[in-house]
Amino acid sequence: MANTISNSNTPPAQLVEVAAIASRYKGQQDQLMRVLLECQKVVNTFSEDVAAIIAREMGLSQTHVYGFITFYAMLSTKPRGKYIIRMCKSAPCHVRGAREVVKAMEDFLHIKMGETTEDNRFTLEYCECLGICDISPAIMINDKTYGNLTPESARELLKLYIREEGK
Ligand code: FES
Repeated sequence: MANTISNSNTPPAQLVEVAAIASRYKGQQDQLMRVLLECQKVVNTFSEDVAAIIAREMGLSQTHVYGFITFYAMLSTKPRGKYIIRMCKSAPCHVRGAREVVKAMEDFLHIKMGETTEDNRFTLEYCECLGICDISPAIMINDKTYGNLTPESARELLKLYIREEGK
């Protein structure tokens, strides 16, 4: 089933930021993905309001923008956690134990891939090759990459994030 965009409330300050980003690319339809990825860093998840503002500022149809957002898995229409954990699902990581690392993270966080923890702290997602295959299996947590993971080191890494949060 296709994703739908919620009409959840996006804070006004974020809408202003989104409008500023999108307005820099007015009329540049080929830059839509770039704009959406930049906006996603601001809003975390796309609501109807956000999609409408991007469409207006770029001079595109809302249908086109909605279609893009709901088609690409890397664009989120569901609220996500403070830390987005992206597990590489490409072949080199897969053959070097990604599946076991995924299982360890799912068990530790009590969620499945694609889900967010109840406290909105962590989201688990798959992604394509992160470009660091020499240290596979690899993950990215927000903007930081980690490689040579084992189930144990993945659990330790998550514990570290939880500890850092508590400080
Ligand atoms: S295959 Fe996983 S980082 Fe390249």
